[in-house]
Amino acid sequence: MNVLVIGSGGREHAIAWKLAMSPKVKTVFVCPGNGGTALEKKCENALAGVDPETEAGHAILADFAEKMDVAFSVVGPEAPLASGIVAAFHSRSLAIVGPDKRAARLEASKAFSKAFMAKYGVRTAASREFADAGFEDALRHVKAHFSQTNQPVVIKADGLAAGKGVVIANSFAEAEACLRFFMKDGAIGDAGRTVVIEDFLRGEEVSVLAAVSVRNGEGVIAPFISARDHKRRFDGDMGPNTGGMGAIAPVPDFTEEAQADFRASILEPTLKGLKAENFDYRGFIFFGLMAREGRCHLLEYNARLGDPETQAALPLLDSDFADVCAAILDGSLAESHLAWKRGAVCAPVAVAGGYPGPYRKGDCVTVNGAAPGGGELSPGVKLFAAGLRLRDGDFFTSGGRVFAVSAYGADAESARSEAYRALESARFDGMDFRKDIGR
Ligand code: AMP
Ligand code: GLY
Repeated sequence: MNVLVIGSGGREHAIAWKLAMSPKVKTVFVCPGNGGTALEKKCENALAGVDPETEAGHAILADFAEKMDVAFSVVGPEAPLASGIVAAFHSRSLAIVGPDKRAARLEASKAFSKAFMAKYGVRTAASREFADAGFEDALRHVKAHFSQTNQPVVIKADGLAAGKGVVIANSFAEAEACLRFFMKDGAIGDAGRTVVIEDFLRGEEVSVLAAVSVRNGEGVIAPFISARDHKRRFDGDMGPNTGGMGAIAPVPDFTEEAQADFRASILEPTLKGLKAENFDYRGFIFFGLMAREGRCHLLEYNARLGDPETQAALPLLDSDFADVCAAILDGSLAESHLAWKRGAVCAPVAVAGGYPGPYRKGDCVTVNGAAPGGGELSPGVKLFAAGLRLRDGDFFTSGGRVFAVSAYGADAESARSEAYRALESARFDGMDFRKDIGR
């Protein structure tokens, strides 16, 4: 069969690579893909320049899926989901892995997702929502908060804000500035007109990605092996937030006790809610957790796989990923569809000089002095391209996060040393990376 992957990042490279491993898959079309998917075995980039976030783009993608006899499509990022690509495909009886627009609001609206968590008893930080006209109320709320305690508050823009929508305010002055920025100045557009203000939680973050197959009030959530992103730019979790500087899987400190608590307090009530709301949710979900002393709180849902967590988790999947997608779609998904390898993956990300601020582009990338090819860098070590463009057989940087090196090892320490050994052999002007992923 042929399949289609929508997106252009490292996550989509990992998804395409894993699908291509299935003996059942003939061609993986990637729209638009990147320099890595261009060279990947059985993969073909297609439809450069098509915007998957518009109705016109949805139609072009659906036309392509029909023409190429695509068995199913997989949506990588959130924006196509939030803009209704799933309904566009369903209206033409095309199979697509991703929640419909209504269910995708679990990511696209923080107010909606917090209301869902409250309704179904999913454990999360206490919060209040303040809509457009509630600016003064929001100020009063944070003023009262800081008069009682010196704990920070977390201010979250309601809408999708590409990682710029969450601010941890340590004082009333910081909170006021942020609320003004989001609600009054419209600095992040309509996404920030409504905000959620919630309690600050301490602990260790864990990402649990999962396959979801819920439809007509029935279904399951099958969790992946745990993973952890490292969002801050610099070693020791210092510096500004980024799109992710590296991931590991599994998470050594996500104890059995915490996993059991996650299932009981977060996964099960979420599943109950997805069914009760009668969502058509056949795709992936991402639970962003804060774990502490065996107890988990849910920070957020994403309606898709994580980036770069996918680049760490998928290499550990022992099952045929095309079978997993088919099971999501036909309602046969059971947890037994997901088998995991022993061992660990460490996937640090190489970024361009300046990132996450304005960064350099167009620098030539080499590994061991040559253009990286399509296969593995060495056994168990794979480069997943993100902001990497292929031109005349050479690779050039084209984004802030350029690639991840995803290394498998028998244990976390050997995965880490393999990943960094490979990363040290890669070069481009301005290249930088965190040295402490998985340490
Ligand atoms: P979110 O988009 O909700 O995941 O927030 C982005 C990041 O902000 C998370 O990965 C956490 O690092 C941090 N964060 C979000 N909510 C909280 C919270 N209630 N307490 C502490 N940190 C938080
Ligand atoms: N790594 C966090 C995310 O994908 O949103």
